[in-house]
Amino acid sequence: MELKDQILANKLPQHVAIIMDGNGRWAQNQGKKRVFGHKNGVQSVRDTVEAAAEIGIKVLTLYTFSTENWSRPKSEVSTLMSLLVSSLRKELKVLTKNNIRLHTIGNVGKLPEKARKELIETIEKTSGNTGLILNLALNYGAREELIRAAQSISKKIVNNELLPEEIDEKVIESHLYTFNLPDVDFLIRTSGELRLSNFLLWQIAYAEMYFTEVLWPDFRKDDFYKAIINFQMRERRFGKTSEQIENINEKA
Ligand code: IPE
Ligand code: IPE
Ligand code: MG
Repeated sequence: MELKDQILANKLPQHVAIIMDGNGRWAQNQGKKRVFGHKNGVQSVRDTVEAAAEIGIKVLTLYTFSTENWSRPKSEVSTLMSLLVSSLRKELKVLTKNNIRLHTIGNVGKLPEKARKELIETIEKTSGNTGLILNLALNYGAREELIRAAQSISKKIVNNELLPEEIDEKVIESHLYTFNLPDVDFLIRTSGELRLSNFLLWQIAYAEMYFTEVLWPDFRKDDFYKAIINFQMRERRFGKTSEQIENINEKA
């Protein structure tokens, strides 16, 4: 039986987030420059997006460029930005064909003009699509996101629009980049690194995590399906006991 057919339609994570890591090492392993890895990572993005759309995932968030990635060599940063622009142009057809809507999180206003324009255009052109939401984290950092949230909440308090006692989870959530998206259920990181690298700190509070040694340019549909099957074997307890969870399942 194919991996895809082992996936249970009624136990899918709604929101999957991926730290796409290992492009540089993949290229260097072959004696090539790091950017060769980034170029080859685009096919993995295509495969993963299609796989997610095919099985009915609602939101797929891809960590594409972090607030810390600006510290890389200038030439690498500019290659990544050009790749973003060219991929958006090329993939529009695939997005449309698969009913996928583009969305972004992060401080997108600080991206180079060309990238910003292309993003705005693609978001606009796919805004009527009702299938998978492809959410690119661009110039995204969880700490920057939390600082921004704290600043806008403070402004509301100063302007008497909000009382300090009224701050709860909902208020915080509504000030994050992800305000209109469901919680992250499943976080995947490729390349064997076991860290979060400033990704979605608030949103993954109860996410299941999955780490694989596969380097991002080698990641294919079956790797994604394998991860989803692994997710489906887990019991999410949210602080309760296993027995309580079983009772809930029996009643359902
Ligand atoms: C991930 O691959 C892509 C980005 C961070 C943009 P890396 O470029 O981090 O690859 P490694 O981790 O150096 O192998
Ligand atoms: C995280 O990967 C950022 C993205 C995948 C976009 P990095 O390769 O930048 O993370 P660190 O620096 O190794 O933690
Ligand atoms: Mg890396």
